Amino acid sequence: MARFTDKVAIVTGAASGIGRAMALRFGAEGATVIAVDLADGVHDTAAAIVRDGGRAEAIAADAASPETIDAAVALAERHGGLDIAMANAGISGGLTPLADLTVADWDRVLRVNLIGPFVLVQRAAAVMRPRGRGAIVCTASVAGLRSGAGGMPYSASKAGVISLVQTTANQLAGTGIRVNAICPGLTETGMTQPLFDSARARGSERKLGQLNPLRRAAGPEEAAALALFLASDDASYVNGQAVAVDGGLSSSHPVVLGHMA
Ligand SMILES: NC(=O)c1ccc[n+]([C@@H]2O[C@H](COP(=O)([O-])OP(=O)(O)OC[C@H]3O[C@@H](n4cnc5c(N)ncnc54)[C@H](O)[C@@H]3O)[C@@H](O)[C@H]2O)c1
Repeated sequence: MARFTDKVAIVTGAASGIGRAMALRFGAEGATVIAVDLADGVHDTAAAIVRDGGRAEAIAADAASPETIDAAVALAERHGGLDIAMANAGISGGLTPLADLTVADWDRVLRVNLIGPFVLVQRAAAVMRPRGRGAIVCTASVAGLRSGAGGMPYSASKAGVISLVQTTANQLAGTGIRVNAICPGLTETGMTQPLFDSARARGSERKLGQLNPLRRAAGPEEAAALALFLASDDASYVNGQAVAVDGGLSSSHPVVLGHMA
């Protein structure tokens, strides 16, 4: 039997990259997918799931808006009840240096990357609680673990997401609802496409991901695979964790190989 037969899952940021990979795999493994994204491509994701024999609905709207999340949760309830919520939508916000950052820059990134996941976590928990079960997975980042993988508001937002899953897991003690995060490293998606395109144009593609022990970047389905494990019953005793899917990047301090005794 497929892992997610008869389950209903909301995935935000489902038009592209990691969220699209999550949605397609949920669909292939039996879940009814409520795909949410600002971009119209979310309809393509839902259509691809249906074309392959799965069940999906698309909502093209802002996942940081409580109205959108309430609509997605209501739709999930009409499909039999929300079992899984994936708070994945995010924006990079650029690499503006400290001296030039504005409060508006922080507002924009924190709204989508941290407050959006909070809203989904809160609304999902409210409908899961009476049933005594549910799984919530947020997409954080290695940028939330330490510096060096994104702009300041982005990194702070992802550190906030890690804290959100830790605090929520404890707020939901005794409810049967698990809350975890994935921390992807460099992954080829819409967000990072310019980096990959310019590296390919310069012939330096092999440098992408060179700092991790696997010495390559990830595909979006590799991050999605971890997220779906955390959403599945196989992870029934995994709770309040932020798990890296980064080729080993976060396992080491920076070292110059061959220069350590
Ligand atoms: N790509 C990486 O290297 C990487 C690494 C670590 C973490 N992440 C995280 O993975 C998540 C998915 O990003 P991705 O890399 O797949 O990028 P992506 O740009 O391919 O996908 C992100 C999707 O989120 C959507 N989105 C953005 N703001 C939204 C909003 N307010 N409402 C609804 N949808 C919105 C976009 O339209 C897009 O379809 C993000 O949270 C990102 O921060 C990515």
